[in-house]
Amino acid sequence: MRNEEVGTRNERKELVPSSQFLVPNKKLWGGRFEKSTDEMINAFQASIDFDKRMYREDIEGSIAHAKMLAAQKIISDDDAQKICAGLEKILAKIDAGEFEFSVALEDIHMNVEKALTDSIGAAGGRLHTARSRNDQVALDTHLYMRRQVREIQKLILDLQAALVKAAEKNSDVIFPGYTHLQRAQPILFAHHLLAYFSMLQRDFDRFEGVHARADIMPLGAGALAGTTFPIDRNFVARELNFSAIYSNSLDAVSDRDYLLEFLSAASILMVHLSRLSEEIILWCSREFSFVELDDAHCTGSSMMPQKKNPDVPELVRGKAGRVFGHLMALLTTVKALPLAYNKDLQEDKEGVFDALDTVKFSLAVFAQIINGMKIRKDNMRRAVEEDFSNATDLADYLVKKNLPFRQAHEVAGKIVHACIERGVYLKDLTLDEFKKFSPLFEEDIHEAIKPETCVAARNSQGGTSYRQVEIQIDLAHKWLEKNL
Ligand code: ARG
Repeated sequence: MRNEEVGTRNERKELVPSSQFLVPNKKLWGGRFEKSTDEMINAFQASIDFDKRMYREDIEGSIAHAKMLAAQKIISDDDAQKICAGLEKILAKIDAGEFEFSVALEDIHMNVEKALTDSIGAAGGRLHTARSRNDQVALDTHLYMRRQVREIQKLILDLQAALVKAAEKNSDVIFPGYTHLQRAQPILFAHHLLAYFSMLQRDFDRFEGVHARADIMPLGAGALAGTTFPIDRNFVARELNFSAIYSNSLDAVSDRDYLLEFLSAASILMVHLSRLSEEIILWCSREFSFVELDDAHCTGSSMMPQKKNPDVPELVRGKAGRVFGHLMALLTTVKALPLAYNKDLQEDKEGVFDALDTVKFSLAVFAQIINGMKIRKDNMRRAVEEDFSNATDLADYLVKKNLPFRQAHEVAGKIVHACIERGVYLKDLTLDEFKKFSPLFEEDIHEAIKPETCVAARNSQGGTSYRQVEIQIDLAHKWLEKNL
């Protein structure tokens, strides 16, 4: 028997073409079906609503595939030309917003292919030779991610540039550095901003890795096992500017690592933006009053007339959660999937697209926030004067007069305690009062505990001194120049 399945199911029927007695299924894959797809099932399984955003990549991929088929004499040059011209027209139509996507055609691949056949006839039906939607969707997504990652990297650089600009503009501004959210030591505000520059540098590098993994060409894997046609995968890779091709067809159609890597890199980036958001929110509060955001970047309250709320950093902090969620969702989707393609994999796109949009939008608004942020220098300055963040320097002073650090720490601690009892700060003590705690104190003690002195003295590599921050700014510029 030629077709066992049909034979078994239609035991009592004559083996006749189904179209003679049943409603035909109009799908591109409708041949073996007796019924057309249920409406609700159509809606449930269609991905066109979200994968249509890969239309450009889908068409570029198809053009490269058609050219390769012709070069390998799998289809005629004439057919390939018709296919390519037809695809270009479809691209222009979609670009112009004049293309009607159909849910019944499931996804971007079949929407484009159907439009092609409608416009050029039988030649269109040759495009899918030696190809499956499984390797096609993998190709589209690789192309799409490759492009998107570059856009994200550009936005990272823009935010980094905003941070450097703010650091340079405020290069002498001192404010308290914190540990445990308790004032710890005076630092340069620029040093604090540049810490985020460094984090973003690693983010940029992580996306470079995502790009490298997206830059591998899956087409030619067919549905899972390769194809019987004499295709040339390197031709397609060259056409589309890929650095490498997948060496295993099963892996090529099943791999979603590069998307997991993207979501991981995106999550870590969002952690960084969220931490800075949290700090900006604190700094804007009356309690800190270290910065003020531009009016154009804040909103008011419908009830409380005095409010100016830092909604943007709050939202970025909030949106971090949804990006983490997408990472967890995809990890869970993939974790128990047998090879090779399973429809579960269609679930990769919405989360990835949403993460892309979220990350890009967050980076763009954040650069604006930093550019528009006013620094309240005087409040920052007051914060390091009216506290004990110079107590380490008091201890270090004694160490430099040859007292062992542990003893110096004890003496300084006693002095701080005495000051707190009296309601004064270290700078308020006279030399005689200092001397009561240790004979090592001399005239230069008041100079030694000034915030400027404390900052300037932390000149170890990567420290907060003016010199070290200058070096960081210099390196930052070099990095931006190299990558912009
Ligand atoms: N829309 C599908 C996806 O995004 C394309 C691949 C479908 N392949 C299949 N054999 N049904 O995964």
